[in-house]
Amino acid sequence: MKTIQLNRFGIENLQVVSTEKPAPGAHEVLVKVEAASFNFLDLMMINGYYNPDLAFPYTPGSDAAGIVESIGSAVTRWKKGDRVITHFIQTWIAGSKSIVDFQNRTGLEKPGVLREYICISEDALIATPANLSSAEASTLPIAGLTAWTGLIDYANLKPGQTILTQGTGGVSVFALQIAKAMGARVIATSGSADKLERLKALGAHEVINYRDTPDWHVEAKRLTNGRGVDAILDVGGTETLTKSVYAVKADGFVGLVGNLSGAVVPFNIYDTVPNNATLRGISVGSRESFEAFARAIELTTLKPVIDRVFPFDAVQEAYRYMESKTFFGKIIIAFP
Ligand SMILES: NC(=O)c1ccc[n+]([C@@H]2O[C@H](COP(=O)([O-])OP(=O)(O)OC[C@H]3O[C@@H](n4cnc5c(N)ncnc54)[C@H](OP(=O)(O)O)[C@@H]3O)[C@@H](O)[C@H]2O)c1
Repeated sequence: MKTIQLNRFGIENLQVVSTEKPAPGAHEVLVKVEAASFNFLDLMMINGYYNPDLAFPYTPGSDAAGIVESIGSAVTRWKKGDRVITHFIQTWIAGSKSIVDFQNRTGLEKPGVLREYICISEDALIATPANLSSAEASTLPIAGLTAWTGLIDYANLKPGQTILTQGTGGVSVFALQIAKAMGARVIATSGSADKLERLKALGAHEVINYRDTPDWHVEAKRLTNGRGVDAILDVGGTETLTKSVYAVKADGFVGLVGNLSGAVVPFNIYDTVPNNATLRGISVGSRESFEAFARAIELTTLKPVIDRVFPFDAVQEAYRYMESKTFFGKIIIAFP
């Protein structure tokens, strides 16, 4: 079978190689991968920023959707032909995450998904929503679930409330769509005028260009009559977190999600003490939350936003495109 492999760091070192088709262990499922989606995390892995001690050869990719080809002798949750999606933190089923769960992530401690067939624990899969293609479904495990967990499980978002989204990557576009489906108001930011138009077309109520308006946090306060927004999932990190804390209302919610501009933030605690804001770390979500998100998708018109689908053999071009940051939503690799 075809497998994407890396033998040293760098997109230019990604290769399509031929490997043996795996056979499932007793509690495993063999999945024929139909589509995989990219995350910023993939770039950090491929370029050696996330784990400089990575063991090679390495196959990247954390999010995939496909069809069950065969099952191990003790598998009870799946049968041949079922449509499934991979669950990122494989052993986090429900409740609070344990430290062990953080050692069981697809594409990090567990094998990556950029291969024609994967063997995976039967517990690390959920059923694909009936109204999604495999390409659409492959966008859910990290970007979609992080937005869902942040807004629904932690920020406790309610209809009529206001959220602010940052940029037009996977997490933020899902946050916009989930908030819209909930009946919430969305103030969306982007560094690109064209993408602001696309955000409006997706239903953003107000948009702000964070390059033209570096004080977007002040503008967000103005747009909410000085009150501040109810919740922000901060994906920017260094350049955005302090501004996010300013932009939320008294008792507002800031989800610590991303590090697009760096992970270290010089922080004055008196930026947050006066408004009693909650700052909450978010690490994707449990399978229970993922299943709730998938059910919600079946009951709404929320369709994941796919920017481009690349063929398997164009993996280098696809990751270069991701590095360019010119995309909107999600980038997909389709399998032969
Ligand atoms: N904690 C978790 O569980 C979790 C889960 C998923 C992702 N993450 C992290 O969250 C971040 C976002 O992930 P993603 O997959 O959605 O990323 P992505 O798809 O790569 O997002 C890229 C987009 O973000 C926007 N952006 C870049 N720098 C920005 C900045 N300084 N301020 C505001 N927007 C900026 C740009 O949009 P415009 O061109 O429109 O400006 C860019 O195109 C990453 O750091 C990722 O590692 C964390």
